Amino acid sequence: MIRIDFVGSDHAPLVGAVGAQAFHEAFGPRNTRADVSAHVESYYAPWVIEREMARDGVRYLLARDGERAVGMAKLAGDPPSSDPSVVLVDPTLEERAGPWLQVCQLYVLESARSRGVGARLMEAMVAEARARGCRGLWLGVWSENPRGIAFYRRLGLAVVGEAVFQLGSDPQRDHVMALRLGE
Ligand SMILES: CC(C)(COP(=O)(O)OP(=O)(O)OC[C@H]1O[C@@H](n2cnc3c(N)ncnc32)[C@H](O)[C@@H]1OP(=O)(O)O)[C@@H](O)C(=O)NCCC(=O)NCCS
Repeated sequence: MIRIDFVGSDHAPLVGAVGAQAFHEAFGPRNTRADVSAHVESYYAPWVIEREMARDGVRYLLARDGERAVGMAKLAGDPPSSDPSVVLVDPTLEERAGPWLQVCQLYVLESARSRGVGARLMEAMVAEARARGCRGLWLGVWSENPRGIAFYRRLGLAVVGEAVFQLGSDPQRDHVMALRLGE
């Protein structure tokens, strides 16, 4: 049975290990080892996750299948303009749909994909956004990740802009996708 929980610093090493493995599986084959390793070290080391957990508005989710950790997600209370590289097609969107919740990371282990784990993690983040009174949820997804883009579209998100995602030494083009959460 799949279980989704918000977790604290005692789970930082496990969240980091799942995120790092899933990131390597998803993006390792299509990027240089140096770029992927640099990224994983900067974002998934336990001490980085512990530091992020202490930041206002940041929370991590862990997905478990029985005893086994199979996915993770990170959310923050930052609007699109918190990333200076974001260019929105409609610049008034941020103001109209604010306040915002950002989905910073969402990763499911390859062996656990296509069983609804990602959808359950998103469901928990949408619930958190509503609980915080957010009217918009946004994220960046690599423009060369069609499965990720299709997954978000199926959940109702639409492309609303572009951003640059720095993967190690490689500046990549991200789609910015967003979901409006009612008035
Ligand atoms: C994108 C990602 C997070 C989706 O997670 P997931 O757990 O595979 O997602 P879901 O299972 O909820 O939905 C995905 C697929 O399962 C199907 N599905 C959904 N619920 C299902 C269920 N209960 N039983 C069987 N299949 C299901 C969907 O139709 C979908 O089909 P697809 O194979 O065409 O994509 C995951 O694939 C992943 O980590 N990918 C690599 C990293 C990435 O792209 N992250 C997001 C962008 S940064």
